Amino acid sequence: MEPTLTTPAVDRRTVASLFSRLRTRKGQSNPLPLYAELRDLGDIFPSPWGGHLITSYALCDEVMRSRTWRVPDTQWRTSQGNVARWNRPASLQTAKSLPMLNPPHHTRVRRSAGKMFDRTTLTEIKESIARNTEEVLDRFEKELLGGSADFTSLVADELPVMSIGQWMGLPPSDYALLRSLTNDQTLSQEFFPTPSQLARADAAAHGLQEYFTELVRERRRAPGNDPVSSWIATWDTLEPDREKADAEAHSMAVFVIVAALETTEHLLSSMVRLLLEHPEQLDRLRAHPQYVPHVVDETLRYDPAIHAISRIAPHDTTLGDTLVREGEMVQLMVGAAQHDPRQYAAPETFDVRRKPPHFGFGSGIHYCLGAPLARLEGKLLLTSMLKRMPRLRISESLPWEPRVSFRRLNRLTVSAA
Ligand code: HEM
Repeated sequence: MEPTLTTPAVDRRTVASLFSRLRTRKGQSNPLPLYAELRDLGDIFPSPWGGHLITSYALCDEVMRSRTWRVPDTQWRTSQGNVARWNRPASLQTAKSLPMLNPPHHTRVRRSAGKMFDRTTLTEIKESIARNTEEVLDRFEKELLGGSADFTSLVADELPVMSIGQWMGLPPSDYALLRSLTNDQTLSQEFFPTPSQLARADAAAHGLQEYFTELVRERRRAPGNDPVSSWIATWDTLEPDREKADAEAHSMAVFVIVAALETTEHLLSSMVRLLLEHPEQLDRLRAHPQYVPHVVDETLRYDPAIHAISRIAPHDTTLGDTLVREGEMVQLMVGAAQHDPRQYAAPETFDVRRKPPHFGFGSGIHYCLGAPLARLEGKLLLTSMLKRMPRLRISESLPWEPRVSFRRLNRLTVSAA
């Protein structure tokens, strides 16, 4: 029998206007009041662009933990007709990556990736990340002596590419190129990419394709003790066709670099920004450095790198009081859900003592494989900054990128307080 469910009456112009405000530099400078407005519209309601928006923690949790909800894979994207956002080269490159695969393919590919950052690997790479941390902080400190320094470009953008680049065995001379390609590639995952952003994303997808085709070729010819060589070896045991084996290793390598950079860059700059904006919390942290690991997770709750995550209904499904039809998309507005007062006490307070659950690394079968690395980078950086840095203050207004899904602070200029 057809379920008798009502779709909540939400004026689409109200939602559209909220999103246009969210997607400005001003909206991004403090999205929390806009998220409160969004949550007031309902836990789930129709999106003006098709599908539904979800704003409550409980419903985001239900969808992400479910083993039946799907991700927008290649088949779903190509079924959307000629919609640029889903059918452009950058989008189709993303569709080949692990978070955009559904079981059983997802299960097979996730197993092939191995543990990535288990205890042994973390112990092996910890020393070099600690060294990288001191190196970037040396440069930052030197620049500060001149009056002010940009934490984003000198530290937050550098540390993640050094960490992942060394782990993958990539030459440091390629880091700047990889940073620029990955930053541009993620533009295709925005809510409303402009034609010029889509063109940049496609060019970047092409650049990444070329770079990693060459890398896989090289590692196949001369395998080393590195993850790309090990993905090739794993796929040789799973896939008799060598070209297909190389294509799988290639997709994993492209995705890992894209997944690791923009996200960790945001985590590091956001963590330092939030502490500087909340001096009482910084004082508390200085007095109780045992809260350092909590700060990383509280940052991922308060202002995660990814604010919206998509899922597709596997069949007609009831969510809250709404019927979502098979094949319809829901956008999990996790940035809003992580301030849901039914989940968190005083959600708008950034509190270094909190050890919060959050969706900053996703949840369910797509839970982030790089979480231990990102947490390690955050902890080492903060521990070192607390020891060696003078007191700092933000000395210029913050230029936020006008986007919705992936947060990006272009500069965090600070000076000694
Ligand atoms: C602060 C840094 C990071 C954040 C905030 C982050 C966030 C996320 C999120 C939200 C997802 C789930 C996406 C979804 O459910 O649709 C995810 C998946 C993933 N992340 Fe991360 N990530 C970070 C760093 C990294 C790093 C450093 C790596 C690798 C070196 C990585 C590798 C992955 C992989 C492979 C997946 C896909 C897992 C799957 O689909 O089975 N991430 N990440």
